[in-house]
Amino acid sequence: MKVVLRNPSRTEVVAGPARVGDVLARFAINPETVLVIHAGELVTKDVVMADDAELEVRPVISGGAGPARCHQCHGTAVIEVRRHNAAYCAEHFVDHVRTQVREAIDRHRMMSYDDRILVAVSGGKDSLALWDLLLDMGYRADGLYLGLGIGEYSDYSGRLVADYAAARDATLHTVDLAGEYGYDIPTATGLRNRSSCGVCGLSKRYVFNRVALEHGYDVMATGHNLDDEAAQLLGNVLRWQTPFMARQSVALPDSGGLARKVKPLYRLGEREMAAYCVIRGLEYVVEECPMVGGNTVLRYKDALNELERTSPGTKAQFLFGFLDRVQSTHFANADPAGEQLVACSGCGLPTTRPRQTDIAPVCAFCRTRERVVASAGRRDGVTATRP
Ligand code: AMP
Ligand code: FES
Ligand code: ZN
Ligand code: ZN
Repeated sequence: MKVVLRNPSRTEVVAGPARVGDVLARFAINPETVLVIHAGELVTKDVVMADDAELEVRPVISGGAGPARCHQCHGTAVIEVRRHNAAYCAEHFVDHVRTQVREAIDRHRMMSYDDRILVAVSGGKDSLALWDLLLDMGYRADGLYLGLGIGEYSDYSGRLVADYAAARDATLHTVDLAGEYGYDIPTATGLRNRSSCGVCGLSKRYVFNRVALEHGYDVMATGHNLDDEAAQLLGNVLRWQTPFMARQSVALPDSGGLARKVKPLYRLGEREMAAYCVIRGLEYVVEECPMVGGNTVLRYKDALNELERTSPGTKAQFLFGFLDRVQSTHFANADPAGEQLVACSGCGLPTTRPRQTDIAPVCAFCRTRERVVASAGRRDGVTATRP
């Protein structure tokens, strides 16, 4: 499609169909500073435009200041970060992202240059950016990709991660859920008391731990960002789920032989991570997982973004206030593992001790895996015996 950008005027061509929001993101345009016009009518960022459409992106901030200037060098800015009341050129934006990661790592003693770090890389913007940042900052960071078997979505994500590893000559561990454990995420639909997303989360935590343990990594890092953590906290606060709040940390110490778990992107928003990838030329999976549908975390993110729109900085104050003033004081003595850990009789990994001492301990992953495999077997059996 043709995209006419104004003030100064230029015309760009973008492949369609594409969401207006995604088109703006390509040009690092803050949707709140422009009107988007199609065939004489205004359109919002969620509208999908056809390939032959023509869009005008018209700036609306008056005052004659011209395009925003970089906070550091006064060159033309490519992105504004309202929370910091600052704009950056590409180079200084990358510096800003690294500074925030540095601050996160130092403040929570997440890792040292001697540590061997395993980064869980999904192919999405956050975790690819995280791996890129840690490598550039000189950390000993290897990647781990878990193939969840979600059709073309998983195949494409896996390819992007493998391509990135090859381009950086970095070590990547790949685990295929179906090959290794006999089921994939689509097989886990229709279980009683557990959604496929629930099984997915449990499988990820298990495989991340297992690979970290088997390969002797000191630290396990994930790409959870400010939006993820603030939305999680909002969900926990709304239901006063205090045990979850006690465990909601950006740096969980190692316990029972399991690696330390850290989230070095917790000070950076979703939009900043996407911008980092665009600026650094990192190709990532823009599509959401097709199994997500109507996920509650997305609703909490929307609610927080609405607050952020009128009061920039709300999200960060909410999360950082919790980490600094609540987590570290009220929950400081909470043992993250909760109970004493024993070896699972199925897989040997640490799990909580059963209340009855005569029962062999089986971890949540082994129990769930058995149910998923059995229910898939029953489904196949039914299909096979149909006339
Ligand atoms: P999510 O659970 O999709 O919100 O992802 C949170 C974090 O988990 C990501 O930032 C990654 O670090 C990690 N992750 C998610 N999916 C995968 C995957 N398939 N393989 C490796 N890491 C993943
Ligand atoms: Fe786990 Fe979509 S990534 S269900
Ligand atoms: Zn600059
Ligand atoms: Zn087990």
